[in-house]
Amino acid sequence: MRAATLNDGTALPLLGLGTYKLRGGEAETIVRRAIEIGYRHIDTASFYGNEEEVGRAINAAMAAGDVSREELIVTTKLWNDDQGRARQAFDESRQRLGLEYLDIFLVHWPWPQKGLYTRAFADIARLRESGALRAAGVANFYPEVLDVILDATGVTPVLNQVELHAGFTQPELRDYHRQHGILTEAWAPLARGGNFDAPHIVAVAEKHQKTPAQVVLAYLMELGCSVIPKTANPQRLVENWGAGEVALSSEDIELLNSVEGNRMSGDPLTFPGDAD
Ligand SMILES: NC(=O)c1ccc[n+]([C@@H]2O[C@H](COP(=O)([O-])OP(=O)(O)OC[C@H]3O[C@@H](n4cnc5c(N)ncnc54)[C@H](OP(=O)(O)O)[C@@H]3O)[C@@H](O)[C@H]2O)c1
Repeated sequence: MRAATLNDGTALPLLGLGTYKLRGGEAETIVRRAIEIGYRHIDTASFYGNEEEVGRAINAAMAAGDVSREELIVTTKLWNDDQGRARQAFDESRQRLGLEYLDIFLVHWPWPQKGLYTRAFADIARLRESGALRAAGVANFYPEVLDVILDATGVTPVLNQVELHAGFTQPELRDYHRQHGILTEAWAPLARGGNFDAPHIVAVAEKHQKTPAQVVLAYLMELGCSVIPKTANPQRLVENWGAGEVALSSEDIELLNSVEGNRMSGDPLTFPGDAD
């Protein structure tokens, strides 16, 4: 799998596994199977309520000799209510995951109305000194709040994980990231399956004899993004992994650039709303 080099030198496989909505035994089975297939980047969050199961699967894979800890990139996130207690929340996540160290810890949302995101990011950046965290990042940040944390902390997040899919590719934000050495990581890269019948996606998929999911993931990677599709379906795990082998032409990219779409989830300017 192709990898991006983060601003701290870490190699991050461009295709990873999202785990939002995977719960209980299903989460454990899917993560275990994903590692067997070759996935090396696993994305979870305390908010997803599945860190224990994700961690169990990772530890089982390591115990079986399928993968070493060094080969994996494990990301989790600081939930909004935990801004202001990042150190404790990090330790709780790490314990639930059952891992000695975590690779990337993200501020899950800036929540500007609360006014704690700079402190949250600074706390996360400081956690790296303990050796229990490799890298600090953010999610759902936009240029104004990125400017604030860069100025206040002097630390550049390794990545910003944002909603991004065909039809909503956030070109200005990606430009900002490129200028500052921040990787753009796409959440909901499949638009949650909502645009697989878009004529341009269907046309490119038919041309390459690939599935719409494979084509849109290949497209986002071609734009320079890492992608973390989620599936609860073992066959789709294999299918999505196959996106790494799709070679799109510049004409394909141009066609996919003209897919129409919008933001599907909360706008980080206003989500989750007024504090208290
Ligand atoms: N930072 C944030 O605020 C944030 C927010 C949302 C998500 N995320 C992260 O990003 C990850 C991905 O986003 P997401 O889960 O919201 O959306 P997504 O990955 O775009 O889409 C997941 C949906 O697509 C379906 N799907 C997966 N592979 C498919 C395929 N090959 N063909 C057809 N349908 C397929 C899944 O159904 P099945 O499971 O039935 O296959 C599921 O309903 C999350 O899991 C999470 O780790 C982060």
